[in-house]
Amino acid sequence: MIFRADRPFSRSPGMPDITTRPLSSGDLHDFRSIRLEALQRAPDAFGSVHEIEVVRPLQAFEDRLRGSLVVGAYHGGQIVGMAGLAFDARPKDKHKGALWGMYVRPEVQRRGVGAALIEAVIGHAPEGIEQVTLGLVKGNEAAHALYRRFGFVEYGVEPRALKTPDGYVDEILMIKFLEGSPGNSEQAGPLRSRL
Ligand SMILES: CC(C)(COP(=O)(O)OP(=O)(O)OC[C@H]1O[C@@H](n2cnc3c(N)ncnc32)[C@H](O)[C@@H]1OP(=O)(O)O)[C@@H](O)C(=O)NCCC(=O)NCCS
Repeated sequence: MIFRADRPFSRSPGMPDITTRPLSSGDLHDFRSIRLEALQRAPDAFGSVHEIEVVRPLQAFEDRLRGSLVVGAYHGGQIVGMAGLAFDARPKDKHKGALWGMYVRPEVQRRGVGAALIEAVIGHAPEGIEQVTLGLVKGNEAAHALYRRFGFVEYGVEPRALKTPDGYVDEILMIKFLEGSPGNSEQAGPLRSRL
């Protein structure tokens, strides 16, 4: 899979000692550790659960890295956040991406890392991606504010999207049309700067 290579490594404007970059198979252990940390420390934010992913073979994480764009945020050599973009090669679906797995370690939250991750995911999205969707658990105000700030708008609510031991949870569905896409009426021209 070929990702846009124009910004292989970027610094977070809000936090200059934070960098973001797409993860590759050499970052497998970083990916697994931040993904499992996300499920453990923010269990209500995700559809997947730690108990299931922690017993998955390493190959499953490698497959996920190969099949999707995953960006990591680093601070002092340690991975402190991640975000993924899933997409589909089928001709009628290849203009769409789906943001997943957004997580920033609590110790570095509210310092621009989440924003840097979104910028990096969109900046490294494969050519041809015109719009990005996401789903977030109703009540996750931090994530909702972050996505709104980046121009994602709500297009629906999936009632009872998740069934948890504490009951059903609705998911808010959001979309962002990238710059230059036919869905973005404010923008024209090629898909270049995407935020
Ligand atoms: C949501 C999350 C990724 C935000 O990461 P972050 O690094 O703290 O976000 P940023 O510092 O880049 O914030 C950017 C903007 O998002 C909004 N925002 C972020 N956290 C917020 C909070 N707790 N309350 C209100 N607004 C918030 C603000 O508009 C903020 O800009 P500001 O700081 O200038 O006001 C982080 O809180 C997180 O990992 N939460 C747990 C996992 C999760 O909920 N993932 C989302 C799954 S859909």
